[in-house]
Amino acid sequence: MTPAPSRTPLLEVRGLRKHFPLRGGLLQRTYAWVRAVDDVSFDVYPAETLGIVGESGCGKSTLARLVLRLVEPDAGTIRFGGEDVRGATRARMKQLRRDMQLVFQDPYASLNPRLTIEDAVAFSLLVHGTPRGAARQRARAMLGRVGLDPRLYGRRYPHELSGGQRQRVNIARALVLDPKLLVLDEPVSALDKSVQAQVLNLLQELKAERALTYVFISHDLNVIEYVSGRVVVMYLGQVVESGTADALADAPKHPYTQALFAAAPTMDPDRRIERPPLAGDPPNAIDPPSGCRFRTRCAFAMPHCAGAPPRLSSVGADHDVACYLYEAHAAVEAVTR
Ligand SMILES: Nc1ncnc2c1ncn2[C@@H]1O[C@H](COP(=O)(O)OP(=O)(O)OP(=O)(O)O)[C@@H](O)[C@H]1O
Ligand SMILES: [Mg+2]
Repeated sequence: MTPAPSRTPLLEVRGLRKHFPLRGGLLQRTYAWVRAVDDVSFDVYPAETLGIVGESGCGKSTLARLVLRLVEPDAGTIRFGGEDVRGATRARMKQLRRDMQLVFQDPYASLNPRLTIEDAVAFSLLVHGTPRGAARQRARAMLGRVGLDPRLYGRRYPHELSGGQRQRVNIARALVLDPKLLVLDEPVSALDKSVQAQVLNLLQELKAERALTYVFISHDLNVIEYVSGRVVVMYLGQVVESGTADALADAPKHPYTQALFAAAPTMDPDRRIERPPLAGDPPNAIDPPSGCRFRTRCAFAMPHCAGAPPRLSSVGADHDVACYLYEAHAAVEAVTR
């Protein structure tokens, strides 16, 4: 699944940043900043699934919204099919949003309770100018494709469906516009395990059938490993490691990635080895630690981890890590070479 270097990315994100002000008091003064997304860069290649994994609050949803410009970035660039998304006009942005669709975690909150599911799926087509009859027909066909027979379900309301069925509606709604890229923000996290598997399989089928590209966000490493070709690991608004799903599972480098794998329940006996558990307080993106943000919970923290933040550097083919354990290693190698 490793993309050949000559291939051009469908999505290129560089130095993306979003800090939210926290205001309080009578004058609503800013008293702190939440560094939700802080200098994040990654590429997504056509037809791949890029997984983004990290604990709650590490900035995954903010990142998803920034990519689709539902939230304006403070800094950074986003290129989609080579086009500068941040420079797009309003009219152009509307077209771009056809090509880039977002599926949210909570399947109920993202559906209008007063629209039948057929109307919910047809709605986005109507917004984009499809005539009513054609929109209805395409919506019904799309519902059928995601496993909801339109004759049985088309006239039902969201509250009459199960969680899994609602998420199928959301997927139908995103796909009816024939997008190129689907950003899936925790699409199965609210569902039971058995339903999760069905929805994940449906997503895999649809991806192959329609040559889609996915950015798949989850805090669940097992889900991420199952669906992703490559994975980006986030910690407090930053990328700490990226690589192929296989490389990360076989040889995770960053102590945080190692801790994530150690914490994830696994059926694989080869993986049940002792790894350093997560120590210290849970993360907070308000005033994160200086230097490496993970150092306060890291079993291998060294004094200079509090200094300049470590940069992402290569530790193998398509495998990068931001950690002084490996920078020191790389420096020693360079000297002895
Ligand atoms: N509009 C906002 N105003 C202020 N802070 C915000 C806003 N949106 C997000 N945050 C903060 O930014 C940080 C990142 O939030 P985000 O929702 O992106 O994380 P996440 O990784 O998606 O978490 P989860 O796994 O819980 O969904 C959190 O500390 C959150 O409280
Ligand atoms: Mg989220």
